[in-house]
Amino acid sequence: MIGARIIHLQAIDSTNNYAAKLLNDGELVNGTVIMADFQTEGRGQRGTQWHSVNNQNLTFSVFVDELNMEIASQFDLSRVVAIVLVDFFKLYDVEAKIKWPNDIYVGKRKIAGVLIENQLKNGRLKSGIIGVGMNINQTKFNDFVATSLSAEKKIDFDIKKCLYNFIGAFNHVFYQLMILDRKSLNEKYKKNLLGYHSEMKYADEDREFFAEIVDVSPEGKLILKTQEEIRYFDLKEVKLIN
Ligand code: BTN
Repeated sequence: MIGARIIHLQAIDSTNNYAAKLLNDGELVNGTVIMADFQTEGRGQRGTQWHSVNNQNLTFSVFVDELNMEIASQFDLSRVVAIVLVDFFKLYDVEAKIKWPNDIYVGKRKIAGVLIENQLKNGRLKSGIIGVGMNINQTKFNDFVATSLSAEKKIDFDIKKCLYNFIGAFNHVFYQLMILDRKSLNEKYKKNLLGYHSEMKYADEDREFFAEIVDVSPEGKLILKTQEEIRYFDLKEVKLIN
């Protein structure tokens, strides 16, 4: 279960960094959620920055311990979090989709992003710091094409209540799909994936091409069917152009 302990900070460099520091000091309990009203150095995937206006959105990290998972299946954690986010937005009647690997989009606009930092021990995945940035009440964005819950629903939301709803969705999905029925995890992930069995435009380092997603491998590779062949792509090797 996550959320029994919630640490609420006004400002911090990054909630993921703060979680890592507590972990290093032996002070991070399984299931702890650390949220901040403002991050001065919020981090995104692939070395990018995550900007979020003070007090308008949710920026938080969740610590999940005692995972004891094979390293080869660590992408399952990404799958679970992406599904939790889709389920979370469904609570507000907003249909969100997963853009592989785990960006969350509404239409052509990004509404949430995830940065997971894993801790390994004895050749296994021991724990993960799951950083989530969700756009809630911000409606003006200038650096990239984005949306928020408020931009979609035209009303403002109680940010703390949103966090509690996320925690509820997380505990439900994690128990259902990691503990009870791991076999269904990839099916549910694919069902919510942008471009699954529908043709879209991609770019690799050489060219742009049309393809449809046919699967995502156990290690998280994107499997695309182009007009000529089936191709496997690792993170960073391909981009969906939408
Ligand atoms: C991305 O889409 O590139 C991932 C964004 C992840 C942002 C969250 S906000 C809370 C946590 N702390 C960070 O520094 N990053 C993550």
